[in-house]
Formats: sequence, structure tokens, C-alpha cells
Amino acid sequence: MVTDVKAVTHVRNIRYDKAAEALYIIDQSLLPNEEREIRLQTLAEMVEAIQTLRVRGAPAIGICAAYCLYLLARSIETDDPAAFLTQLQEYSARLEASRPTAVNLAWALREMEKTAATYAGNCRSALLDALYQKAISIHDDDIAKCLAISEYGLSLLKDGDGVLTHCNAGPLATSRYGTAQGPFLLAAERGMRLRVFADETRPLLQGARLTSYELHRAGVDVTLICDNMASMVMKNGWIQACFVGCDRIAANGDTANKIGTSGVAILAKHYGIPFYVLGPTSTIDMSCPDGAHIPIELRDPEEIKTLWYEKPMALSGVKCYNPSFDVTDHDLIAGIITEKGICRAPYQKTLASLFQ
Ligand code: MRU
Repeated sequence: MVTDVKAVTHVRNIRYDKAAEALYIIDQSLLPNEEREIRLQTLAEMVEAIQTLRVRGAPAIGICAAYCLYLLARSIETDDPAAFLTQLQEYSARLEASRPTAVNLAWALREMEKTAATYAGNCRSALLDALYQKAISIHDDDIAKCLAISEYGLSLLKDGDGVLTHCNAGPLATSRYGTAQGPFLLAAERGMRLRVFADETRPLLQGARLTSYELHRAGVDVTLICDNMASMVMKNGWIQACFVGCDRIAANGDTANKIGTSGVAILAKHYGIPFYVLGPTSTIDMSCPDGAHIPIELRDPEEIKTLWYEKPMALSGVKCYNPSFDVTDHDLIAGIITEKGICRAPYQKTLASLFQ
């Protein structure tokens, strides 16, 4: 077992091998027991990987989709620019439909489509090269954004603080430091001691399988708790702040993140603990007025009843409701931390100013 921050922050969760023109991801569905790379070649494999969370986390699915669209563009055979764009948009729509909540997926695909439209009149190799460079720049930009977010996040913490986090917003979900977990990794690099409490995050256990895995390997003091223990650790006085990631932030600051996040925010308010959302500006959807307009992904009930168990934990006829995300009301959020700085209420105004 490594206890080395760099080994964690430099994980190659999404890797494009240009010489071989091959896209690889770490299959996150196998973690923490196995770290295995898989190659994505066909549209069906790409969609399946996103839907089954082999690649997951809002920024990571955007980055992955950008490389996917570049690869798919390479397979389009026509020389007619209009026919090329039509086929590319069809592929893009199929990728976008794979998961509805995280806006980074749509954002990255739009960026790729805009590049394709700009270069469609050029020769094939120039067009493909522009798409490749765009995918690389989306990836590189995310690295820079994550570092900036992590610095701003860390500026809100002091040595010895306890921080609660929900789901996984670390290097596997992004690139390099991550968003909500980035401050913990930066702190570890700088010898600052934080005590992190990671919710296990039912039903897909991203907190247990991924967050505690990353933080433990990086040498961060991490304690794994079941989701229903958050109130207890807050009441004990062990938590000075909550840091969570995000999948879509509406114009008024309402924020979709992994199911259970809004409950953490409500608890934090009860105990007087500041609750912060950390994410890149690509997660802000100014065209979405409020949380009621954020599409929420519903997933297979078997994730609750059977997925992790040798035997089913409920009768097969029992109904299940399995939303993958929930929305935290903006008035529960103490600050939204982006690569451009920390936004405070009124979010309608402070979020809009990020895009002026
Ligand atoms: O369903 P997942 O695992 O993709 O959900 C991930 C989250 O909710 C993360 O908190 C969010 O995407 C932010 S990742 C930086």
C-alpha cells in the first residue's frame, strides 16, 4: 500500500495513447479491490462505461466524452463537411443521453461540437487534429481548475479541522487533485493535519470504495462512516466544515450532487456547520434557473436490493426508488468554490459575475 499523495493525484483515470489512438480508463466499478485499465473503442462500450460508472464523477465523464467523440470522429468516413457534422452530432447525442444530471458531459460535448463546426471546412487531418487538441485542452484545463479549487477550499480550513465529505470528488472523479477532496490532498502535501469523515454513500458506495481508498493511500487521516452516522459525528463536535462536489449548479445556486448530499446540508445547518460546494465553472448551468429544472437520473432498484449482497436484501416484488442525485437548496450553502474564487449568496448575482 502506497501512502503517497502524488501516486493518488497523478492517477491516470482517463488516458489517451496518441501513438496507438487508443482511449483507456481505470474501471472504477472494480475499485478498491482491483485497479484495472480498460480500453473504450466502440460507441456502445463508451455509453456502457458511463452508464455503469466505470468512468464517473461530473468532470471525468466530460473529459472522457471529449476523447470518445474524437475517437468516433476518426471513424466517420465521409469527406462532406455537412454529413460529417450530422454524424458527429448523432454520436454526441448518444453520449450525452448516457447520464442526464452532470452538466459537464453536455458541456464538454458542446465544446467539441463547436470545434468541429469551426474546422469542418478544413482537410480531414486538420479537423481531427483540432478535435484532439480540444479534448486535450478540456483535460488540461480541468487539471488547472482542480488545483485552483483545492487552494481556495484549503484557505477555509485550519490545522486540526474535521471535515465531512459525501460521495467521491477526488482525482478519480476529475483530474489530479479533484474538487471537494482536493483541499485534503493539498493539506497532506503541506503537512497540515485534517481529519476527514467520508460518508460511505449508498447505494453505490463511492465514499467507501473510492474516497476512503484515495485518501487512505494519500496518507490523509480518513474515517469511513455509514451515511446515517453523519448527524452523530457532527453532534460530537468532530466536524468544522462539510465539503462536497457537484453535478449541476443552477443559476440560483441550487446544487445537484450525489443522493444524500441535501441531507448532509440540512444536518450541517442544524449543527451550525458551514456547508461548501466545490466544482469547476463547467458545472454551473446558467440556463437552468433553479434546482426544480435539474434532471435527476433514476437508476436500477437492484443497486439497492441485490448489488452488494450474496443474497437479496429485500423481496423481489418490493418497490424501490433509486434517484442517483438530489438537490441542495441554495440557502443551505455557505459558499460555492470554483476555480475563479469563492461565491457567496446571493448566488444569482455572484454566479452570473463568473461569466461576465
Ligand atoms: O454517480 P457519480 O458517482 O458519477 O456521482 C458523482 C458525484 O455526485 C460527485 O460528487 C460529483 O460528480 C462531483 S465529482 C468532482
